[in-house]
Amino acid sequence: MNLESILFTQGFGSRRQCRALIADARVAIGGAACTDPLASFDTDGLAFTVDGEVWPFHEHAYLMLNKPAGYECSRDPQHHLSVFHLLPPPFAARGVQCVGRLDQDTTGLLLLSDDGQFVHAFTSPKRKVPKLYVATTRHPLDDAQLHALRDGVLLHGEREPSAAVAARARGERELELTVLEGKYHQVKRMVAAAGNRVDALHRERIGGFALPADLAPGAWRWLDAEQLAALRNG
Ligand code: URA
Repeated sequence: MNLESILFTQGFGSRRQCRALIADARVAIGGAACTDPLASFDTDGLAFTVDGEVWPFHEHAYLMLNKPAGYECSRDPQHHLSVFHLLPPPFAARGVQCVGRLDQDTTGLLLLSDDGQFVHAFTSPKRKVPKLYVATTRHPLDDAQLHALRDGVLLHGEREPSAAVAARARGERELELTVLEGKYHQVKRMVAAAGNRVDALHRERIGGFALPADLAPGAWRWLDAEQLAALRNG
């Protein structure tokens, strides 16, 4: 693929902007600036730098973010900053979107991708991907609440009860809950329907993939092939 197309597909702006970056010697491959937009490279395992920052070539972007509180999962946020403020601009430019949404005050594992099939597979209600949350509750948890969450609670405006596939107390006010759907405010509404209240919510796991302990709040990383397989098989 030629250098202009490489930059274009990786989100570095219009073709004109990509040509300008190359002409200004801001793009390097193998440690040397390349000023020829038509120079051709094998993209398999390719890494290039733009203004000294290293970019591995990826046909599709698959990312994880440790979402902090106070960020909206929208490119056009209403009241807070967008999670896209935490990512380098080329990701939004190449069409990366959130794989499902977390509330602005929810923290933890958020996946993002520009692969429409991947996004659909993980957000489709039919696929039933388990998502594990840890909720800090306002009131102490009791067995009746845990049973209600597992048996199913009726949410306002819904005809069928919503049930957790697993619900257990990790502490007096710490609830571990696994749900298969991704309905609006689902965990908060379920906990409220069970007679308690969520004060803080954190997503720890999606499918077979857990948020890495060393990924700091606000930090992002590429998902590697092994992690993608864990997600797909989980
Ligand atoms: N359930 C909620 O209530 N909020 C989230 O952000 C995710 C799941």
